[in-house]
Amino acid sequence: MNGSGVEEIGFPGWPQFAPEVPEEVSKVLTSGKVNYWTGKIGMEFEDAFAKWMGAKMAISCTNGTAALHIALSSLGVGAGDEVIVPSYTFIASSFSVVQAGAVPVFCDVTEDHTIDPAKIEALITKRTKAIVVVHLYGVVCDMGPILEIAKAHNLYVVEDCAQCIGGEYKGTKVGLVGDVGCFSFCQSKQFTTGGEGGCVVTNNEDLGWECRSFRDHGYDVRTRMNMLALEEKLPYIHRRVGFNYRLTEMQSVIGLCELRRYDDWNLARRFEYAAMYDKALGNLRGIKAIPLNTAERKNSYWWYPILLDLDVVDITAKDFIKELIGMGIPCSGILWPESYLEQAYQNGVGFGDAQFPFKSKEYTDPKTVDYSKVVCPVARSLRDQTVSLFLHPSWEKEHIEKVIAAVKEVIAKHTR
Ligand SMILES: Cc1ncc(COP(=O)(O)O)c(C=O)c1O
Repeated sequence: MNGSGVEEIGFPGWPQFAPEVPEEVSKVLTSGKVNYWTGKIGMEFEDAFAKWMGAKMAISCTNGTAALHIALSSLGVGAGDEVIVPSYTFIASSFSVVQAGAVPVFCDVTEDHTIDPAKIEALITKRTKAIVVVHLYGVVCDMGPILEIAKAHNLYVVEDCAQCIGGEYKGTKVGLVGDVGCFSFCQSKQFTTGGEGGCVVTNNEDLGWECRSFRDHGYDVRTRMNMLALEEKLPYIHRRVGFNYRLTEMQSVIGLCELRRYDDWNLARRFEYAAMYDKALGNLRGIKAIPLNTAERKNSYWWYPILLDLDVVDITAKDFIKELIGMGIPCSGILWPESYLEQAYQNGVGFGDAQFPFKSKEYTDPKTVDYSKVVCPVARSLRDQTVSLFLHPSWEKEHIEKVIAAVKEVIAKHTR
């Protein structure tokens, strides 16, 4: 015992890889066919992910940030455009907008941690081209009203699914609810392709081919793939400016292995552990909210953020977390509630001496990029309330039980 009444047990780390991964990676290395165009596994992984999603196309790429950059640029988002994005999300959700040449316009969230549909319309101007929604922590955004607004104003909807692999809105997997979905397979995510990785998915084939081209030096990828099938020499036809955002074959083979056990092991355990937390914490005095999960908005549980009821407990999230960590419980606070406070936005540090796009009067409305005037009060208020618990599939039930016991203990100690 550690003196707190909670028995000492170690918490397994995350990620952990499927048992066959080392051998599969080693086979790829030995084959020497290690890049997307020399091996076949990159395309196999894309096909498997598309099949699992129920998508017409999946375009793998180096990371989730690249996926967003690819999606936005392939939709034609660029200089002169504005994109509405929640402030409360990892910085890449908005940096990718800047990478595409456009400017982010920050929207507040509701207490379910996702973009507040009621606050979107007031941010729309004649420059607005898209909305980036972020299914944060695995909580699925309220897509119905968002899609309606997008339709009424002719805007694209880009889904940032970096933290939500397998969430569903009205039975459709997230990533296919809007125009295009962007995934991250980074180290901490629901599964990883070996530390970094990403994918774009869409049912719009023209958009999918544009993404493929943008991902890959602007090649005419359709022609390139046909030539490959005919075993002819690969032509270099650069039909547009693009990047090199390709995944390696080693990463793709890891992706194949992790995807194979995703539904039955990874996601199944997350659901089981979420149900344990729900039961133990859902009606506990001192906890104001547990993660939203409804038949319409089906959570995929990357993490399990709870909101403290600060009228009932006399401790804010920061100190609550300190106590949990002191008891040996891994957990986290909010990492990024107000992206607009970052120096890059406050000081307008973009590209080149011109600080494009922030200081570009030709393309950008100076009022929009005066981020010193932006405030998202709900996102700000969540900082003191939010404690994220983990439910990694590498854990066993006893680890979840230990977290529950510790949370209850800290709440009991601090109930007013
Ligand atoms: C919400 C969100 N969007 C985008 C990204 C970017 O993904 P990556 O780190 O793979 O570039 C992340 C990853 O941390 C994320 O959490």
